[in-house]
Amino acid sequence: MLTSSSALLPVYAQLPVHPVRGSGSWLHDADGQAWLDAYGGHAVAATGHCHPRVVAAIREQAEALLFYSTALPHPIREQLASAIVAHCPPALRKVFLVNSGAEANENALHLARKVTGRQRFVSIEGGWHGRTAATLAVTDGEKYMAGARRAGMPLSLKVPWNDPATLLSAVDDTIAGVILEPVQGLTGARDLPVELLRAARTACDRAGAMLIFDEVQCGVGRCGAFTAAESYGVTPDLLTLAKGLASGLPISAVVTTDAIAALIKSGDLGSTFGGGPVPCAAALATLAVIDDEKLIENAVTVGNHLREGALALGPKKIVSTQGRGLLLGLRLHRPAVEVQTALLRHQIITGTSSDPQVLRLMPPLSFSISEAELLLLALAQVLS
Ligand SMILES: Cc1ncc(COP(=O)(O)O)c(C=O)c1O
Repeated sequence: MLTSSSALLPVYAQLPVHPVRGSGSWLHDADGQAWLDAYGGHAVAATGHCHPRVVAAIREQAEALLFYSTALPHPIREQLASAIVAHCPPALRKVFLVNSGAEANENALHLARKVTGRQRFVSIEGGWHGRTAATLAVTDGEKYMAGARRAGMPLSLKVPWNDPATLLSAVDDTIAGVILEPVQGLTGARDLPVELLRAARTACDRAGAMLIFDEVQCGVGRCGAFTAAESYGVTPDLLTLAKGLASGLPISAVVTTDAIAALIKSGDLGSTFGGGPVPCAAALATLAVIDDEKLIENAVTVGNHLREGALALGPKKIVSTQGRGLLLGLRLHRPAVEVQTALLRHQIITGTSSDPQVLRLMPPLSFSISEAELLLLALAQVLS
């Protein structure tokens, strides 16, 4: 835990858990206590903590070549780009690799501006896209928009999450693009209606604007398919992936169409660390584990089990559920932070959200039915 003598800036509220090891859905502290992780290090531990195949791939690549920048080609970068494309909707065929969710979104916004020659974006109420100046400008929330204003960024037009007609009328030929998370993370796994995504596609096609899906949190197999785009049946022009992509090493991707790629030339984008060989090795191993261990199917099965089990606790305990796959929100009658704290006494880690009544679950995609049962049992006790 941070103390006043810490040299770190005190920007994070931290939970009282001090892990020294991780394995699957479990963290272990120095006292030998095991903690069930239904938070996944913020949806990052896609294959579980320290999956042996991911760890082995990292070790092997680190021993062979720790790093060289994109100034030199490296086959592992090509392999990863091909593997990502193979997992995405067919129209998305080109990849740019960077290092974090915000950086991927920043580049997607940059590309949309460049391709259209326009500046302004439409985004969705409750949407959260990062902490760089451009991503703050499309993020909802006064605190974040204030940061964008200080940086002189034009704020996006925010439209309601459940009103396709307003979205349709907001996108005209001055708009560079629409950015949205198909399943919003920070609002507590709020799954946007498919009609809204379809309206966004139609509006962008009509106005010549770019549709951007921020799948930093809801992508990589978390919401019913490798991309939420696929699970909704709506394909954007630009899609960003991050968090779970390498099971914990920093890497992110902007995935786009041949048509947009044709407008990009050497030197238009760049990143020193982007596509470094070690994160690429971790990401390749992550994608192989997701496929071989059928983790997308598991996320659907266990997600449904959690959702049904939570609702079976009764309307006095659970008001409703939201989300898809293993990005789930449980709407409670009590403040979610109280329930999160009570679950910590059962040594279970969960997340809160910007909605004070919604508890957020984003465990590893390998979370098992028996682990879900442990969580449901603890929830039943905490909520009684
Ligand atoms: C939907 C979404 N977009 C973007 C980001 C920013 O990602 P990062 O913290 O890796 O910059 C996050 C992080 O929580 C996110 O959930």
